[in-house]
Order: sequence, then C-alpha cells, then structure tokens
Amino acid sequence: MGPNVLLELRGLRYSYPGSTSPALNGVSLSVLEGERLAIVGANGSGKSTLLMHMAGCFSITDPASILLSGAPVERGCEERLRRAVGLVFQDPDDQLFMPSVLEDVAFTPIARGMGAPEARALAMEVLEALGIAAIADRPPHRLSGGEKRLAALAGVLAARSSILALDEPSASLDPRSRRLLINTLSGLPQAMVIATHDLDMASRLCSDVILMNKGAIAARGKGILGDEEVLRANGM
Ligand SMILES: Nc1ncnc2c1ncn2[C@@H]1O[C@H](COP(=O)(O)OP(=O)(O)OP(=O)(O)O)[C@@H](O)[C@H]1O
Ligand SMILES: [Mg+2]
Repeated sequence: MGPNVLLELRGLRYSYPGSTSPALNGVSLSVLEGERLAIVGANGSGKSTLLMHMAGCFSITDPASILLSGAPVERGCEERLRRAVGLVFQDPDDQLFMPSVLEDVAFTPIARGMGAPEARALAMEVLEALGIAAIADRPPHRLSGGEKRLAALAGVLAARSSILALDEPSASLDPRSRRLLINTLSGLPQAMVIATHDLDMASRLCSDVILMNKGAIAARGKGILGDEEVLRANGM
C-alpha cells in the first residue's frame, strides 16, 4: 500500500467572475501524506488560484472536483478545507491582522481552543525557528516585506494544519532568512504544496514538481527544473 492521499483534485475548473478565459482549466492532482509538491509556472498560470481552491477560499461548485481524505467536499463545507489546509497567501497583508506578531501567530491556536499561555509559548517557538523572535511584539503593518512574509508563515505553522499551502514563501527573503525557511520547512512532517518561482528552493525542498501553463498542468516531475526546453515552451 502506498502513502495516504490527503487531498485530491479531479478536473478542477474555475473562471473568475467576468473573465473570458479560465484561471483553472481541468487540474487533476493528488497530495500524498508527507509529500512536498512544488507548483511552478509563469505569472498568471494559475498557481495562486489553485492553492486558494485547495484551502477552501472559493465556494465549491462541483463537489466531485475536490476530495479530502477520499470524500468529496460538498457545497457549503469549505470550512473542512480551511481547517485541513493552512494557506500562506502570496501577499502577507491579506493575512496579518492582529495588533502584534505574537498575537497574530497565537490567534488560530486560541480560536481552536488552546489556552492563551500555551498558544503564546507555541507562537514564540515557531517565531524562534524562523529566526524572527525579535519582532514578536511589533505591529505587523510596520514590518519589512520579508518580515511580514515570515510572520504570516509563522501563523500558519502554529495552526498545525495537516497540509500546508505556501504561495511564494521565499519571495523577498534575504539569503539567511531563506535558508532558515528551507531548513524549517524541510524539518516539518506535514504535506506541502508550494507555489514558487524559486526553482532552486523547489529542487532542494520538494519531492515532486508540477508545471502550470494557462490554468492546466503542462508537465510533471523534478526533471522539469533542469529542462530548459520545457520551461521555455511554457513561458518561463
Ligand atoms: N481576482 C481576480 N480577478 C480576475 N482574474 C484574476 C484574479 N486573480 C487572478 N486572476 C487571473 O487568473 C489567472 C491566474 O492567476 P493566478 O494569480 O492564479 O496566477 P499565478 O500563477 O499565481 O501568477 P503569479 O506567478 O503572478 O503569482 C490570471 O490570468 C489572472 O489574471
Ligand atoms: Mg500567484
């Protein structure tokens, strides 16, 4: 028996309201337990839209197209996806909302029933692992771009979802922060889906790679990362 399928997409389609071309045009993939899957592709190829669907940000239109632990996610049950999949948005400003970084990172554990002192200790632990304990008491809106990105990631790590969906986690990080990020992620047991333009990170961190083009999967396999012809043919 192979590893468990945690999340499965079957022919997922989506068009943004008023748009003439689909953002997702029949995407099928499985996320396996413990797997780290990179999603690469040119700007506008559908990576963020894909991650947001996995994390329950859109209303379900076709229950047969998203399955969680083998069961279709019915209309109105998007909360199941939101609990199972921790999404770090491409833009950290979409995510951070509490008056301090520490409170922000402790927010979801507290909302899910953890005591405040325990949640704060967990939040500090995650901030330390990412090398940003020093910004724990700062208001998120006064952080640098890279600090915001790490703070948003810390919030999702503290929520301990079984799947992580990370949208451009290494964007705007300095080399040290990027190294800490890669080390931290590679030490985590959760399955991860990582949308990224950082092909070097994808190669170090991920077990498999999906290349998106115009809302569809154009190629699959780690070999893509070194295949200039395939990358070029798909707008990269
Ligand atoms: N809110 C929106 N309304 C309408 N169209 C959108 C919206 N967000 C994205 N799109 C369109 O959907 C398609 C996929 O966009 P998406 O953001 O998923 O791409 P991406 O691969 O994440 O790109 P990038 O590498 O720039 O982050 C694009 O054609 C984009 O213009
Ligand atoms: Mg994107």
